[in-house]
Amino acid sequence: MTRVLLIQGPNLNLLGTREPEIYGRETLDEIHAGLQRRAAELGLELATFQSNHEGALIDRLHVRDFDVAVVNAAGLTHTSVALRDALLAIQRPFLEVHLSDPSTREAFRHVNFLADIALRSIVGLGSRGYHVALEDIAQRFGGTGG
Ligand code: DQA
Repeated sequence: MTRVLLIQGPNLNLLGTREPEIYGRETLDEIHAGLQRRAAELGLELATFQSNHEGALIDRLHVRDFDVAVVNAAGLTHTSVALRDALLAIQRPFLEVHLSDPSTREAFRHVNFLADIALRSIVGLGSRGYHVALEDIAQRFGGTGG
């Protein structure tokens, strides 16, 4: 069974109340519950990890107990050479997800340290973007038996 690690970066723990006009009203727990159901349907094993700390995210990636990652690095997308280096170092493919479309927002969000090394970037679909990522992974890597 393909093992997926979903990494959620800084401030995503506040989803539901954080700028809901941009990020929606679903909480992170609600999003993750829906994704666990979808992963089970697709035959994927899903682990989730959220941290507000760059080093904690990097340490979690270093565990390498997964086949493919889904990464919403949040603000670190636009700043973190260290997170990029970690994703390259662990030699695991990943898909990038953003709830909003950073390319249509402030200029500083147009800088992206991860997009060119991601298999795919899924942006602007809200929490549905994570579902699209799981469906893509099931197709590419196989679900049950894959
Ligand atoms: C975000 C977009 C980032 O620019 C922002 O810093 C976030 C959330 C998104 O999911 O749309 O924290 O990654």
